[in-house]
Amino acid sequence: MSWPETTRRAAEGSLEFGGVLAVELAREFGTPLYVFDEETLRTRARRIRDAFLRAYGQSRLVYAGKAYLSPALMRILVEEGIGLDVVSGGEIYAGLLAGVDPSQMIFHGNNKSRAELEEAVAAGVGLVAIDNDLEITLLESVAENSGRNVEVVLRLNPGVDVHTHHKMRTGATDSKFGFPVWDGQAEEAASRICRSTRLALVGYHAHVGSQIFDPTLVARTIDVIMEFAGHMHRRWGAIPNVVIPGGGFGVADDASGADVPIEEWARVAALAIERGCLQHGLPPPDLVVEPGRAIIGPAGVALYSVGSRKTVPGVRTYVSVDGGMADNIRPALYGARYAAALANRNPAGEPLETVTIAGKYCESGDVLIDNASLPELDAGDLLAVPMAGAYCLAMASNYNLSPRPAVVIVADGRARLIRRRETYDDLLRSDVFESPDHARFDERRLSAKKGSL
Ligand SMILES: Cc1ncc(COP(=O)(O)O)c(C=O)c1O
Repeated sequence: MSWPETTRRAAEGSLEFGGVLAVELAREFGTPLYVFDEETLRTRARRIRDAFLRAYGQSRLVYAGKAYLSPALMRILVEEGIGLDVVSGGEIYAGLLAGVDPSQMIFHGNNKSRAELEEAVAAGVGLVAIDNDLEITLLESVAENSGRNVEVVLRLNPGVDVHTHHKMRTGATDSKFGFPVWDGQAEEAASRICRSTRLALVGYHAHVGSQIFDPTLVARTIDVIMEFAGHMHRRWGAIPNVVIPGGGFGVADDASGADVPIEEWARVAALAIERGCLQHGLPPPDLVVEPGRAIIGPAGVALYSVGSRKTVPGVRTYVSVDGGMADNIRPALYGARYAAALANRNPAGEPLETVTIAGKYCESGDVLIDNASLPELDAGDLLAVPMAGAYCLAMASNYNLSPRPAVVIVADGRARLIRRRETYDDLLRSDVFESPDHARFDERRLSAKKGSL
């Protein structure tokens, strides 16, 4: 299980991240609280960037913002020279706010709207990953209207079936992403783009899934891409300047697994590209990788306060915390496994018990951790859940009209608030509604607000 690199057990017994005690964080910002460790974020980004540069000099790293796109965290990645993979107009907006150079953005998505394509072209987004026929029509028209030429990569469905959760598979035969390479659809799309006066086909993309622990699958994916690139070169003279085998680097998110070795992944990817170039007579393209989870996942920890406890005799003991599926839906959605540690006092020497850590939301499936082995928890104890940086807050909701948590970055003994906890007003600010009794509503609203503190 990957904790932030600065995690320590302080002499007082509390866990500490970035030199800040978990108990202090909870006292100052409340719980649930998401804590991101700046050192871990920078170290992981650098490690991946440098591993690929060592293996293949023409490598670039872009961060898959869908894992969690906070302008403050992205700013740190910009400082590390990392670009951004975006998948919506909102992500383009947040990336620009963070200071990402738009030429370093890649715009993905299987159903980009015309408005989003207009936003991307107006912003000068570097690459659009074309995913479907409608998009070619829309983007050509947007480019024509704005008088700009747009560089695109074609998203291929390579038919590579990775052994991961079926909801994290994107390159198997049955996928909503990309053009199948085996039945002529990809070729037809590429030829349409090659004939376009506004769109320039500069390369190919295939992301086959997330949580991939076998790097040879990336080699197979690149083989398919290079085979297709070779064919398109012979047919249309199209030279790929860029090959993007996506992200998906496996990261341990339970108590036992281990991260996929990035060096091995980079080596295998580089070999596959070199082999493909040789085989198909192509010049070496840029290799762009777009990990999300492997960069941000281990940098984040969720802090929860323990509340109620309920034992169903002969079945299990539920210990409930003050968050759950509204801030981390992954256990319910993917069966993702998490671990937890007591954060406010040192459990060393205490006997362990097996409990189910349940969330507070009104769903039986709102369980964060099944069969957690922990010391006996009391109401008010703090629980820290590592590997909470990726796809937790990014998928967070206001289910049960719950305010989403605050987020802080910790570094060098200081915590910086980068997202305040939502208020009840935030929850309803988009509702269009005239209260029948303004005065009484305002009174009640004030007392409700107090209740949220
Ligand atoms: C196109 C693309 N690139 C990169 C990623 C990042 O995947 P991961 O966070 O597993 O590295 C995804 C995730 O869905 C994706 O769809």
